Amino acid sequence: MKTSDIRRDIPFLDEVIYLDAASTTPTPQPVVDAMCDYYHHYNSSTGRGAYKTAVKATSEVEKTRSILAEFINSRKEEIIFTKNTTEAINLVAHGFNFKKGDSLIVPNIEHHSNLVPWLNLKKKGVEINIIKSDSQGVVDPTKIDNAIDQNTKLISITHISNSIGSMQPVEEIGKIAKENDILYLVDAAQSVGHMSINIDKLNADFVAFPGHKGLLGPVGTGFLYAQKDVCNELEPVNLGGGTVSDVTEHDYKLTDGPARFEGGTLNISGLIGLGAAVDYIKRIGMDKIEKHGNKITKMMFEGINDIEDSRVYGNPEVIYDMVGFNINGVNCHDVAKILDEQNNICVRSGMHCAIPAIRQIGAYELGGTVRASIHYYNTKEEIKTLIDTLEDISQLGS
Ligand SMILES: Cc1ncc(COP(=O)(O)O)c(C=O)c1O
Repeated sequence: MKTSDIRRDIPFLDEVIYLDAASTTPTPQPVVDAMCDYYHHYNSSTGRGAYKTAVKATSEVEKTRSILAEFINSRKEEIIFTKNTTEAINLVAHGFNFKKGDSLIVPNIEHHSNLVPWLNLKKKGVEINIIKSDSQGVVDPTKIDNAIDQNTKLISITHISNSIGSMQPVEEIGKIAKENDILYLVDAAQSVGHMSINIDKLNADFVAFPGHKGLLGPVGTGFLYAQKDVCNELEPVNLGGGTVSDVTEHDYKLTDGPARFEGGTLNISGLIGLGAAVDYIKRIGMDKIEKHGNKITKMMFEGINDIEDSRVYGNPEVIYDMVGFNINGVNCHDVAKILDEQNNICVRSGMHCAIPAIRQIGAYELGGTVRASIHYYNTKEEIKTLIDTLEDISQLGS
């Protein structure tokens, strides 16, 4: 499938220049169709009813679990459905029995969703060891290695920073975690659907995924990969219907597998849509998506960097599918507003839910950065319009 095919499936892209894939992505028609099909023809609860439409709904949701497992090269029973990446990370932070005196390692380039749940554990007496990235937003694995001591229980790091776009040496850090027998969590919010992910290569015990970003799935979907052996060490926090195999008036027995973490009625249509979205991504092909992303990112980075009054963040060699920048003398929110008003260009501005990361790259005092983030549906023409409009805006600051 070509970029033009995808654009036909997403009418929204005729109305705006959408450069905010890092927040969430628009939903292609086949994904919407799969969700509508559920609502129109078998709108029933999963895992409960014995009637035909309930059985069909259950089997479609379980099909999504299989599709996701195959996509990341894991086992089906290692996929836990969540409503987003944040919930997946919290499931580990709340579900693992961290104790007073335990220590965790987290870099300072994280999205708040991969920092605040860990900081919250300080209340239990858990120590959080924050590792500083370099000025380009890349974490040095040696620093992580040096920070490990006998109390270290977990390392948690983002795959690709959501504010700078910098890819982290996650495989190398995974090896360090394994050698030291430490739990390892990777936040794949900005990488899945933008590059191939193979669980075996990451050496991770947990990987947190959104469905609604790079995978082009519906909002309200995400999932956690939890390696089978460590999965049993996690206590579910959302207990209730679907999580138990037996209950008396005084006690309960948890069921095995992902279901024990998935209390209550699931986002059934969303999960069916997520399965359709991964099928759609596979039809485009991850190689093509990655190649297109690299080309467009390079064009965007160079074009913005060439504007006399711009400041672009990060190292273009390790940046994936987004560019963070400022235009000297113009507030980042004003830049975003003018881009929207002049040419319907949608970008994010501000702190990007990553205040420590924004401090690290020296943009805190500026109120943050502008972030333009892309996917396979974006074209060179759109990037040219972005750059031309930014040229005009840069005149305002001088
Ligand atoms: C790196 C990173 N982690 C976590 C999140 C939170 O994702 P979600 O909205 O799916 O919970 C985001 C969202 O932008 C992100 O970029």
